[in-house]
Amino acid sequence: MAGLKEISWERFSKLPAAEKRPYLERQDGDGMPYHTLFAQQFDRALLERLCALANRIRFINKSKEGALYLKGVLAHKRAMLYFSQPSSRTFLSHLAACQILGITTGSVRDAATSSEFKGESREDSIRTFSSYFDMIIMRSPEQGLADKMAWELSNGDRPVPILNAGSGKDQHPTQALLDVYTLVRSFESKGGVDGRTVTFCGDLLRGRTVRSLSYLLTTFRDVKQIFVAPPELQVPEDVVAILKGKGVRYEISDDLRAAVRASDAVYMTRIQDEWDAAKGESSKIDTSRFKFGADELAILKPDAVIMHPLPRRDEISTCCDNDPRAMYWRQMRNGMWIRAALIASVFGFEREIMDCGY
Ligand code: CP
Repeated sequence: MAGLKEISWERFSKLPAAEKRPYLERQDGDGMPYHTLFAQQFDRALLERLCALANRIRFINKSKEGALYLKGVLAHKRAMLYFSQPSSRTFLSHLAACQILGITTGSVRDAATSSEFKGESREDSIRTFSSYFDMIIMRSPEQGLADKMAWELSNGDRPVPILNAGSGKDQHPTQALLDVYTLVRSFESKGGVDGRTVTFCGDLLRGRTVRSLSYLLTTFRDVKQIFVAPPELQVPEDVVAILKGKGVRYEISDDLRAAVRASDAVYMTRIQDEWDAAKGESSKIDTSRFKFGADELAILKPDAVIMHPLPRRDEISTCCDNDPRAMYWRQMRNGMWIRAALIASVFGFEREIMDCGY
């Protein structure tokens, strides 16, 4: 197995994401990631293994005996949650996933409360965390920092796995895992995800969840992707290039109603104005036609699902919240289970949990 010790940062950083994958895998050859940095690390087989493990963990956790067993699985491990961007769901679901597996956690949620306030670099902060913890779960506004630190730590004296919980406008791989898990569960008794049509709507330019999920959907057979957004916020060229390269059917549109009629899943996203170059820039864009409400609900297929990585503003009306097709609350909870599955796998406990007697 190739590892990050066997490649210079210069070479590694220039590789296409798909070619980076072998350097990030666990060294025992089971194919699971050691470092989790981007969606291109997951193929269909790995997704199926993770979904199966997430289902297994949620089943085991239903009984007190099972929950106590799970709490012992990684009781010898500690994880650091280093979030230098705001988060509710990603932080809390990773925390809950660690708790399910018995992992002790530490956290920094605001650089102002760490020695970064005194001028310490993010790199030095992360190196510091690796002295005390066995895994670093990190969210950063800085694209590429998780990759750089995965390489640095692997080449240092405290190699610990990095789990990317959101990096700049670039990637949010564990969100994409929970999105796929939600789709798989939603369609498991209805013929599966293959052949479905998924619409992405909103700020597709700056939404890292869109880039990561769009890639994972390419691992399914014949899934069509429709991108609905105002021209200023349309899906970026690098995402389209991947779809073209893989021969995936896609459509660029500004007609949400037409897309809703054709879709099995509608994935709404928030306008990500925290990335505005100039304050108030996004508010000048007309987003009024890119919202999901009662009219869209009325034309949505009976067995389709509405998804959203959350948080939302007004892009999904609260009038949709109690519709059985509104999947966003369950989607959020699915995050805890799939993240528990991923963390257990990173530490090499997939087989033990799958085969345990509970
Ligand atoms: N979906 C998501 O990343 O939510 P948070 O920002 O609340 O973590």
